[in-house]
Amino acid sequence: MWLYLAVLVGLYYLLRWYRERQVVSNLRDKYVFITGCDSGFGNQLARQLDLQGLRVLASCLTEKGAEQLRDRTSDRLQTVILDVTKTESIAAATQWIKERVGDRGLWGLVNNAGIAAPITPSEWLTKQDFMKILDVNLLGVIEVTLSLLPLVRKARGRVVNVSSVVGRLSLFGGGYCISKHGVEAFSDSLRRELSHFGVKVAIIEPGSFKTSLSNNNRISQSFREAWDHASPEVKEIYGEKFSASFIKSTKILAPKWSQAVSLVTDCMEHALTACHPRTRYSAGWDAKLFYLPMSYMPSFLVDAIFYWSFPRPAKGL
Ligand SMILES: NC(=O)c1ccc[n+]([C@@H]2O[C@H](COP(=O)([O-])OP(=O)(O)OC[C@H]3O[C@@H](n4cnc5c(N)ncnc54)[C@H](OP(=O)(O)O)[C@@H]3O)[C@@H](O)[C@H]2O)c1
Repeated sequence: MWLYLAVLVGLYYLLRWYRERQVVSNLRDKYVFITGCDSGFGNQLARQLDLQGLRVLASCLTEKGAEQLRDRTSDRLQTVILDVTKTESIAAATQWIKERVGDRGLWGLVNNAGIAAPITPSEWLTKQDFMKILDVNLLGVIEVTLSLLPLVRKARGRVVNVSSVVGRLSLFGGGYCISKHGVEAFSDSLRRELSHFGVKVAIIEPGSFKTSLSNNNRISQSFREAWDHASPEVKEIYGEKFSASFIKSTKILAPKWSQAVSLVTDCMEHALTACHPRTRYSAGWDAKLFYLPMSYMPSFLVDAIFYWSFPRPAKGL
């Protein structure tokens, strides 16, 4: 009985492996637009796809980022400046893309741009702190997608949205986890709607990787700023020790984060180039071994793990 089961499971994985190896044809004629290419995953993906011969349209937040990317890539790669929080900037980038792709349409849209800070208990923050993150990570993704959808539909292409493991399991306060849960929900409904037009939607869920977004100094500084602006009541109930142990734990954890950014960009590339892309890609050992299994656990168990492993407020129970 166990042998039959093992053979069945083996066959399933063999078939899946074979199916997932099928690659789309004429990749060199296909245009892919990526947001947030100044650094991190977006930058690496732009260079990786350029090397594969795809026509990369890379958007950067700054001219300096765009210039540096152009210096490291072929003449085929083109850049544009895009701030995903600004409607005029999205409209201008859409027009720029239209002029390049023409009747072919846009094969791939990768919504990658994102910010994370401030990461603190929610009670320390203001509505503006939440809005700042949601504007980039969620509303930015939605507006860019809506603006480019006619071009993607024309090509029967792909939308690849960068979420996170925290899009499944909320690990900390602030707008980041909320924004990524929103990206998951948006992507799920979009995938079902667009299946009628032959457009495929994939979600990338990276674990913890060393990029400028996860930079320890950046996170600690935003944490300190939120602490400085917190009300006297918050300061009293949380206490200095809480804030010190949070900063200490990020210092201990940060060096353990993966530098293998290609684990994420390989998933993005697969989502764009495979005939049968996955719906979700979990990238990184911590995502696969720790966060993903945790997201299936009952809430009381997850709450207990968090209660015992995170710093506690001075005046908590
Ligand atoms: N690193 C991780 O551990 C991790 C884990 C899970 C998910 N992610 C997600 O992966 C994606 C890429 O992040 P990353 O880790 O590669 O960090 P990153 O190096 O900071 O890349 C994010 C990019 O987005 C750009 N950006 C910020 N605000 C923008 C705006 N308003 N409009 C357009 N672009 C903007 C940044 O530009 P500047 O550099 O000029 O600010 C940067 O180039 C994000 O969606 C992030 O949430 C990261």
